[in-house]
Amino acid sequence: MRSFLVAMTRNPLSLLGTAITTASAVLIVALLAIEYLGFHGNPYVGILSFLVLPAFFVVGLVLIPIGILRERRRARLAEERGEAPPEFPVIDLNLGRTRRLILVLLVLTAVNVVILAAATYKGVEVMDSTEFCGTACHSVMHPEYTAYVRSPHARVKCVSCHIGPGADWFVKSKLSGAWQVIATTFDLYPRPIPVPIRNLRPARETCEQCHWPTKFVGDRLKVVTHFDNDAENTELKTVLLLRVGGIQGRVGQGIHWHVDPNLRIRYRSDLTREKIYDVEMTLADGTVKTYTIEDAPPEEEGEDGTPMEWRLMDCVDCHNRPTHIYNMPGEAVDEAIRIGGIDRSLPYIRREGIRALKEEYESHDEARRGITEAILSFYGDSYPDLAAGNRAEIEEAARRLGEIYATNVFPAMRVGWGTYPDHIGHVEFEGCFRCHDDEHATEAGETISQDCDTCHSLLAMEEEDPEILEQLQP
Ligand code: HEC
Ligand code: HEC
Ligand code: HEC
Ligand code: HEC
Ligand code: HEC
Repeated sequence: MRSFLVAMTRNPLSLLGTAITTASAVLIVALLAIEYLGFHGNPYVGILSFLVLPAFFVVGLVLIPIGILRERRRARLAEERGEAPPEFPVIDLNLGRTRRLILVLLVLTAVNVVILAAATYKGVEVMDSTEFCGTACHSVMHPEYTAYVRSPHARVKCVSCHIGPGADWFVKSKLSGAWQVIATTFDLYPRPIPVPIRNLRPARETCEQCHWPTKFVGDRLKVVTHFDNDAENTELKTVLLLRVGGIQGRVGQGIHWHVDPNLRIRYRSDLTREKIYDVEMTLADGTVKTYTIEDAPPEEEGEDGTPMEWRLMDCVDCHNRPTHIYNMPGEAVDEAIRIGGIDRSLPYIRREGIRALKEEYESHDEARRGITEAILSFYGDSYPDLAAGNRAEIEEAARRLGEIYATNVFPAMRVGWGTYPDHIGHVEFEGCFRCHDDEHATEAGETISQDCDTCHSLLAMEEEDPEILEQLQP
């Protein structure tokens, strides 16, 4: 026993190991205590305290026996050379000293295990935090994080959708996460990050942890406010009664009919899932119908030899942007005018705002400068009196436009307007019309309907004072 301690403290490697382990243990305990007292640092402190320090801790622990083994080997070699044989440790439990030493070792081991367990637990917690996923790697997740914090899911952790519960996906995600850390460190990641995410966990095991797929939503009234590109920025309202549906009794209906657990829709598409070739529908009674487009490429490969996939339709095939919601310029400017962020009385502000947003800029700062210049010079040239008298409103509008740019376009990640399509609807992107185009047909000639009333009643279409709204809000 004594020689073990001697071996541990006499050879430099073990000594180094002891020092590293002790130092990182003290630091981990201190940081845990600080956190316990309620101080929460930024993600870097988290990474340092619960990922880097434990690594040092373990390295130190490993160095100790390596040092001892090396020491032993040296001693054995010395013996072979005929030098004095090393004494083998005699463990005599009758000696009080030995008993105390064993006790000390056991206690130290227990303490080590506790520290390591606590650090591992914290490490996992740190890695699962929104701050770690969303901000630790700076520019990489900047677009996703920016879009996420102003979405309906801003309080839902990244891991709830991207990993979900259970050990197998946890391990899978840590493996791919390790690669992501390497890719980020050595700048090997693609820009923009490609979608769809091929190995995203099926929605059944993520979204459906919180959302009940058979919930009956029924019809949902949706009022969309647009503005015209005229001098008055005329307000136009579209009113839709969306047939979201769900399960009523035992019968699925409306838009959420697709996720009725009693039926199954699969589709074959190119890898972007933008171009859908075949749709196979299996109903509860076992009937199978297959809708195909003319000139669908053969099963094996896509148009330019690109591979294809069969996929079981789930929530994410419509709700592919439940939280990373990027707006198109028109949508975003309409919204800013609607909530009063951009002064609607500025002539042509919608048209000019969209024009300025669609220019190319190298960075957010350059965009803010360029947009302000464009807006100021438009009013300076066309409305000099207004430009002088309403300078504050014009500058505020330009500032808002810069903000819109910076929350939707990310030059550093090559994310531009429309880089990430949204599959709900059909106006900016194909969305529902990827299948509902009246061109996917069964052999009997049945098509997937594009009839406007299948999905919604259009109660008003870009009207200034829709009658239906007068009726609803007299
Ligand atoms: C409500 C569920 C949900 C949450 C919460 C969520 N994501 Fe996503 N995420 C998705 C879905 C769905 C996609 C799109 C998958 C597709 O198109 O294949 C996606 C896509 C992405 C992509 C691919 C690029 C893109 O913009 O589509 C990245 C990167 C990403 N998420 C990171 C994050 C980070 C970081 C967080 C936390 C800050 C987060 N996600 C939170 C559901 C979620
Ligand atoms: C951890 C729980 C949780 C998970 C996981 C989750 N959601 Fe949600 N989702 C919510 C909550 C809570 C709301 C309501 C937010 C509100 O009303 O402000 C919501 C709202 C929504 C809405 C309505 C948004 C709106 O504009 O009102 C949609 C659509 C949606 N979720 C789809 C999804 C999809 C698709 C997934 C899986 C990729 C998902 N959710 C995963 C909790 C979750
Ligand atoms: C066929 C496309 C499609 C599929 C598949 C789909 N949804 Fe939806 N969902 C919609 C549309 C369209 C709306 C209405 C959107 C709107 O209000 O702008 C909607 C609305 C919602 C809402 C808001 C409902 C409310 O109370 O107003 C939630 C939550 C939601 N979906 C969750 C889900 C979940 C979870 C799944 C998977 C089990 C799913 N959806 C599958 C198209 C789909
Ligand atoms: C992968 C292909 C596919 C996509 C994408 C798709 N659908 Fe469908 N949808 C179908 C098929 C197949 C049917 C059944 C054939 C039919 O009724 O025309 C159907 C039927 C429907 C129905 C009638 C349901 C009923 O009560 O019988 C509605 C409503 C509908 N879809 C809405 C939508 C909306 C809204 C979207 C986009 C958010 C969408 N679908 C996207 C394949 C698709
Ligand atoms: C397969 C289902 C489906 C069919 C068929 C369909 N729509 Fe839609 N449409 C939608 C959905 C879903 C939305 C809502 C998207 C959202 O929530 O923003 C929408 C939105 C709209 C909007 C509002 C767009 C906006 O934001 O201003 C208009 C206008 C519209 N549809 C017109 C039509 C017309 C005209 C037809 C017939 C040619 C049609 N739609 C057929 C599903 C459909």
